[in-house]
Amino acid sequence: NVLILDFGSQYTQLIARRVRELNIYCEIHPFNHLPDDISRFKAVILSGSPYSVRAEDAPHPDLSAIRGKMPLLGVCYGAQYLVHFGGGSVEASNTREYGRANLSYIIEDEPFFEGVPLGTQVWMSHSDTIKKLPDNARILASTSDVENAAYKIEGEPTYAIQFHPEVYHSTDGKKILENFLVNIAGVAQTWTPDNFVDMTVASLKEQLGNDKVVLALSGGVDSSVAAMLLHRAIGKNLHCIFVNNGLLRKNEFERVLERYEGMELNITGVDASARFLNALAGVDDPEQKRKIIGRTFIEVFDDEAHKIKDVKWLGQGTIYPDVIESISVNGPSATIKSHHNVGGLPDFMKLKVVEPLRMLFKDEVRRVGASMDMDAGLLGRHPFPGPGLAIRILGDITPEKVRILQEVDDIFINGLKSWGLYNKVWQAGAILLPVNSVGVMGDERTYEKCVALRAVESTDGMTADWVNLPYDFLQKTSNDIINKVKGVNRVVYDISSKPPATIEWE
Ligand code: XMP
Repeated sequence: NVLILDFGSQYTQLIARRVRELNIYCEIHPFNHLPDDISRFKAVILSGSPYSVRAEDAPHPDLSAIRGKMPLLGVCYGAQYLVHFGGGSVEASNTREYGRANLSYIIEDEPFFEGVPLGTQVWMSHSDTIKKLPDNARILASTSDVENAAYKIEGEPTYAIQFHPEVYHSTDGKKILENFLVNIAGVAQTWTPDNFVDMTVASLKEQLGNDKVVLALSGGVDSSVAAMLLHRAIGKNLHCIFVNNGLLRKNEFERVLERYEGMELNITGVDASARFLNALAGVDDPEQKRKIIGRTFIEVFDDEAHKIKDVKWLGQGTIYPDVIESISVNGPSATIKSHHNVGGLPDFMKLKVVEPLRMLFKDEVRRVGASMDMDAGLLGRHPFPGPGLAIRILGDITPEKVRILQEVDDIFINGLKSWGLYNKVWQAGAILLPVNSVGVMGDERTYEKCVALRAVESTDGMTADWVNLPYDFLQKTSNDIINKVKGVNRVVYDISSKPPATIEWE
């Protein structure tokens, strides 16, 4: 078990992911809330930070319970922090130290750099620099611009690096983390999907006993994997509810129900399309739509949950990034969109919450699903937003618009699949624009709807770039859509990255 102390760097989650990729369990905690029981951790990593250690308001936690007592690795700000409060000096750098660099000196015979070749590429991102190391420190590596790129404190298991081992562009970054955690700290590499399933099922059994749990399935990866874990633990005491809000993909309700049937889940499908579409009639503000959908969902779910006698728990597919965001150093980020629309429950339901995935990243959820032999097609699905097509129909929603968008989306997604492109894309969908444009079909003038296609690559939805789909594919898809979907005469492809755009248009 490894503790990552977060100083607010945008890369902190990446450190955790790299550590997990080494099959080592780790937890991120904000620097100002050190966990009570430090002794359950075998090593500590200090993250980077947007602050300068020299600033008054920068994170300056008391590390006396950690420093010298267990293996400690400072990364970037973490490395500067140990110098600043350890008798060395940190100053503003005269040269820019951002981006690619190469280690031009690496000390020999040091387990920290075992197997890392001279010249290896590392990624720098800092404006302060370590001018002078404390007397008891020894340089382990340098670049041509940064002399103190890595150092060790003599007589204690404290190491530090100025560069970011966690980013993809630090070629041997993962190896360095492995050297520190496995060779130096002696942490066991036992965090595997199989172990996670065994441990989680056992602890769910203990936690839930004979209690009943109700869980909302969405057809997506997280809720499905959460359901499978709960199912393994408590079998028929798990009651799943899958709500059709009328804003799902074409035939999705039926298809998803069929898919779940094979998983032997105890599941109720509720078709509440009319209720949702009525509540949304005439509403065109995106946040308003989200609120209405969230509220209606809770009403429908609550009605169904009340039909199950003596339910004590609500199962949820919350994953680690949501948990981290809610406890992060910077606090929850500004509301660009209120994404977590299926979060709150009315007080009177008084259910306790069980969240079997709350310590997992998305890719780990997939691996856990695979280790339970879940359907690869289900585990590989693109993310789909809770409000569904409602936020892809710009402006107000009508059943006719839903029909049009479902047809368009179906052609696009099936096309991606049959061209072997689906798995190369992180998320894709179509957007119905509130624009009519003039066209000509046969000899007739048309004045019909325009749709936009969007396909992005991303790892977590926080940043994204549009995918360079082959022109042949776009051409065929556009043709199919215009020929087959009545009411559409124009197709455009969205070539905006996030930021500054977002993935969804609303
Ligand atoms: P944006 O549009 O913010 O989307 O770049 C990032 C990711 O979040 C999804 N998304 C939502 N998911 N409820 C959800 O459950 C929402 O209201 C919502 N809005 C956006 C979006 O599909 C993308 O994966």
